[in-house]
Amino acid sequence: MSSNNKKLIAVFGATGQQGGGVVRALQATSQFKVRALSRNPSKHPDLADEVVNADLDRPETLKTAFEGAHGAFLVTNFWEKGTDELKQATAAIRAAKDAGVKHFIWSTLPNVEAISGGKFHVPHFTGKARIDRIVTEAGFELHSFVIAPTYYQGLVGPLVLQKQADGSLGWALPLDPEVRCLHMGDIRELGNIVAGAFAHPDDAGHGEYLPLVGDFLSFNEIVETLNRQGHTFSFKRVPKEVFATLFPGAAELADSFSYFQAHTYLGSDSSDRIALANKIAGRQPTKFSTWARVNIPVQTP
Ligand SMILES: NC(=O)c1ccc[n+]([C@@H]2O[C@H](COP(=O)([O-])OP(=O)(O)OC[C@H]3O[C@@H](n4cnc5c(N)ncnc54)[C@H](OP(=O)(O)O)[C@@H]3O)[C@@H](O)[C@H]2O)c1
Repeated sequence: MSSNNKKLIAVFGATGQQGGGVVRALQATSQFKVRALSRNPSKHPDLADEVVNADLDRPETLKTAFEGAHGAFLVTNFWEKGTDELKQATAAIRAAKDAGVKHFIWSTLPNVEAISGGKFHVPHFTGKARIDRIVTEAGFELHSFVIAPTYYQGLVGPLVLQKQADGSLGWALPLDPEVRCLHMGDIRELGNIVAGAFAHPDDAGHGEYLPLVGDFLSFNEIVETLNRQGHTFSFKRVPKEVFATLFPGAAELADSFSYFQAHTYLGSDSSDRIALANKIAGRQPTKFSTWARVNIPVQTP
């Protein structure tokens, strides 16, 4: 297909983990022309077919972001200081609709407030879920929801994997390690689902929810998998009240773990949605043990 005949897809978060995977997966299909959106396009000139300046906090930049696009992928970054996900997403949805975007894909998360009957407060989940209705009511010809899992990538790194009191390297979290509650995945693979949804709108363009799930594990299973591969990691359960005071944002994370434990990450049996997502992606997502063997190598002294 010549580049002129390809449908153009505009991708937010293209320089990040979710959107980066979307750009790569769209390019791999050769079916689409990709416009990467960034606040700093000059820093990423080769990211996609086009790299265009767009800032979700500056609605005046959004017209050109979506101009001529058939599809759009939107992720907002709750963790970036000052981010108002509702305001950003509302501006993007409106601009996309005005620009004539036909297929809009929003990266959402479960509504913890509704699932837990108000018991747990996890704004980075519930805030995204509340945007679903705005996407639906915008009246795009096609729309889809993708759900990112707990990133495998988030398990490692200096903030989460720390030296414990007994000298071992491990995790100290307010979570019962026996409870299988974590829907997890290699976040780079979310793009396969997004690209699949753009390519197969009949199956996935009418408000379907498409979660990426490579594995469903308890923390003990995570630790056992890694230790079978030669690590000597540990897990310590810490009281929620203690964890909540450890760093800014820890209270929200502590409530996330309580929610996972009570309801699981996705909040309900999602096997049909996961099966559809995998069908749309055209492949099974990578299992944790396979990912870990490559990405958490055993350090030899
Ligand atoms: N970590 C997890 O386990 C997990 C699980 C599920 C969902 N999530 C959600 O994932 C989201 C973050 O996605 P990610 O991991 O892909 O983030 P990331 O790798 O940190 O990248 C953030 C992206 O957001 C873009 N961005 C931020 N503010 C922007 C703005 N005002 N206008 C335009 N673009 C903006 C950045 O683009 P530029 O800097 O190039 O402009 C960058 O590409 C969060 O909302 C989080 O809640 C995380």
